[in-house]
Amino acid sequence: MARHSRKDEVSWRKQQNVESRMSEPVSSEISVEKLLWSFLTSVSRALDLSYSGIMSHHMRVAVVTAKIGEALGFSKEETTQACQAALIHDLGAKTWGERAKLHQFEVASPFEHAIDGYRILMSACGGEDISDEDRTESQKLLLPYARIILHHHDRWGGGNLTSAQGESIPIQSRMIHAADRLVVLLDDSRPLNAQSEEILAALARYAGSVFDPSIVDTIKKLAKRESFWFDLEERFLAHSLAAFAPEGFAGGSAATGGGPSVFSLSSLDTLENLARVFAEVVDRRSPYTSAHSIVVGECSLMLARCMGLDELTCRELRIAGLLHDLGKMGVPEGILNKRGALTDEETCLMRRHAYLTYQLLRSIPGFERISRWASYHHERLDGEGYPFRLQAKDLPLEARIIAVCDVYAALSEDRPYRRGLPRDEVQRILNKMAREGALDPDVVNVAKEALWGAFDLVAATGSQIAGT
Ligand SMILES: [Fe+2]
Ligand SMILES: [Fe+2]
Ligand SMILES: [Fe+2]
Ligand SMILES: [Fe+2]
Repeated sequence: MARHSRKDEVSWRKQQNVESRMSEPVSSEISVEKLLWSFLTSVSRALDLSYSGIMSHHMRVAVVTAKIGEALGFSKEETTQACQAALIHDLGAKTWGERAKLHQFEVASPFEHAIDGYRILMSACGGEDISDEDRTESQKLLLPYARIILHHHDRWGGGNLTSAQGESIPIQSRMIHAADRLVVLLDDSRPLNAQSEEILAALARYAGSVFDPSIVDTIKKLAKRESFWFDLEERFLAHSLAAFAPEGFAGGSAATGGGPSVFSLSSLDTLENLARVFAEVVDRRSPYTSAHSIVVGECSLMLARCMGLDELTCRELRIAGLLHDLGKMGVPEGILNKRGALTDEETCLMRRHAYLTYQLLRSIPGFERISRWASYHHERLDGEGYPFRLQAKDLPLEARIIAVCDVYAALSEDRPYRRGLPRDEVQRILNKMAREGALDPDVVNVAKEALWGAFDLVAATGSQIAGT
């Protein structure tokens, strides 16, 4: 595999607009607790993208869940954990249609997405077949979330696919269940506090059969305060949620501009696991992209290492690769899976995904560089890319690496309108795109050797190459 010498690397850095660095992480590293909070509060917004823009279902359920936790005497850490689980509780819902169905009060079969959410989280935790002691620290961190989400529609009275009932359902799952059903009953066209009585009556009807009666009682007490309802208004929601952030959390105080990483290698482990979870949430929406984000993440890491970038930057690049298409959560499946050419309007919607990726990632402390690298993956050196139409001078090497890996992965994979292309054909197209001014010719050149070994795996089962 080609590896640039140190001298080559320095001249490379001079030629290119490189954002990486060779020094150790700066002292203001972000703690794992704060990282988890800021990542989940930002990225969970992707789960609510739909025709009507960014809705706030997950954030609302998180606020109500946290209030129930506080009222039940949970510690600050326990409340934050329940709140964070609520922020991603429906991550297993695959399509916009499935999510819309869950917004009805009575859902006939709500278990499938709970099981899928569990499976996605469990795979980021190392799978079901290993004992908890054998899991890494970052895998252990996500484990409680998998279990809470698995049970979040379990009925108190039983009859659940998990076979849990009553007290054997995790308390956090019971809280999310009741909070979730309360939130789907809210009607934003009317004052929220005016709906208190009817919503409480609906919950009370199912207390003891569907919902834990003590949680329904707790909600009844909370709901007496008008502020409980006002806190759920769209305009106040972010502030309401911030009240449940981990101790000492100060929002974006770790912002670093274009500067060095604020992540340690261990916090990068956690971030990579979280990024894998959301990569799968994005990829599973289309059968044609079942491992696309995973492949782009792994190829970006391989290519960055071959180019001699420092290890922290390589790992950050993998995270950017895993999350580069996060904004596709805002594109309807009908467009993602369309066999024929897209209409002008559909193309506009599709192009929006890179911008959405930027908006979803930019507010995470320490993600200033990652959000740019991820969202520039459709930019071109000749300024004809989208959504920012940047010129070559504004495209750092890291963004150029992801752009090459994205095209490489997309060409190697099956699409609705064609089969995955053979390796020689992929290389021919990459060369052509480099000649035409779309991709960086030097990156394409290194990719020729760096990604050689990855090709067969990409073509077969892209997800298998994880862990390089
Ligand atoms: Fe759900
Ligand atoms: Fe929900
Ligand atoms: Fe994309
Ligand atoms: Fe992509």
